Amino acid sequence: MSAADAVTDSLNRMRAEFGDLPGGRPADYIPQLGLADPDAFGLALVSMDGHSYSAGEADVPFTIQSVSKPFIYALALSVLGLDEVSRWVGAEPSGDAFNAISLEPGTGRPANAMVNAGAIVTTALIPDTPGEPAFDRILRCLGRFAGRELDVDEEVFTSESMTGDRNRALAYLIRATGTMPVDPVLAVDRYFRQCAVRVTAVDLATMAATLAYGGLNPVTRDQVVSPEVAARVLAVMATCGMYDGSGEWLLRIGLPAKSGVSGGLIAVGPARFGLATYSPPLDTAGNSVRGQAALRALSERYGLHLM
Ligand code: DON
Repeated sequence: MSAADAVTDSLNRMRAEFGDLPGGRPADYIPQLGLADPDAFGLALVSMDGHSYSAGEADVPFTIQSVSKPFIYALALSVLGLDEVSRWVGAEPSGDAFNAISLEPGTGRPANAMVNAGAIVTTALIPDTPGEPAFDRILRCLGRFAGRELDVDEEVFTSESMTGDRNRALAYLIRATGTMPVDPVLAVDRYFRQCAVRVTAVDLATMAATLAYGGLNPVTRDQVVSPEVAARVLAVMATCGMYDGSGEWLLRIGLPAKSGVSGGLIAVGPARFGLATYSPPLDTAGNSVRGQAALRALSERYGLHLM
């Protein structure tokens, strides 16, 4: 079997092995996400030579949700630099749920850019330019990471807008501490739109591979962010990407990762690969049950743990 066939074969095996794994349910606090097919299970890997490998529902579109957070953190770091971004948002694991109130004592900053509070601030930091409103810039950035033009799922956006009071409350609380750069309503609207950008598992694997390759998209050869920015984003993903499960994840799987409530999950093997899974049933921390199981098995069987 060729090396390429072996990769596809392992992804197919993960799908067969974990496709019936019970437990978890699709998120429904955003009503539209509750309509997802719980049995959809896609896996994809993109290597540094730009090859993509996939199994199952790897071309099924879903909304990116929190998997957008590291990429918009990367955009903020590229535009403003680490010192300026760090005035607004920290880099410490919160040990709390993704939607927790997060205000660092003393500074009032959210703990990190992977929890909702920090991500709303990161999104709000992206400035409009004369030629391009901030959201268009965000969408274009996500598209460069994915290597194709992306769009917004308006139904999911509206569904979250109509039910997203907790995020609005977080934005107002942060505003009250003085660390919200723009109007909270505007910040949350832009953040909901960012979360509703439509991707596939193959897109997410390409995006992860771009971080793995020092910010260079291995498929399009577009340098999306600098190697320094990519390295910093991976550091925050490693410590904060799986919320209050981040320590256990790093202990067992040993790869920088990021999950989202629609069921997407990425893991990055620096200088080696970007991996992504899509499976909507989530555990109580908001992470995909089957996605985590498959990535854990891949890490253990192929010795992917970085430490
Ligand atoms: O803000 C929210 O609640 C969603 N738009 C995104 C949260 C999310 O994906 C958390 N991930 N596991």
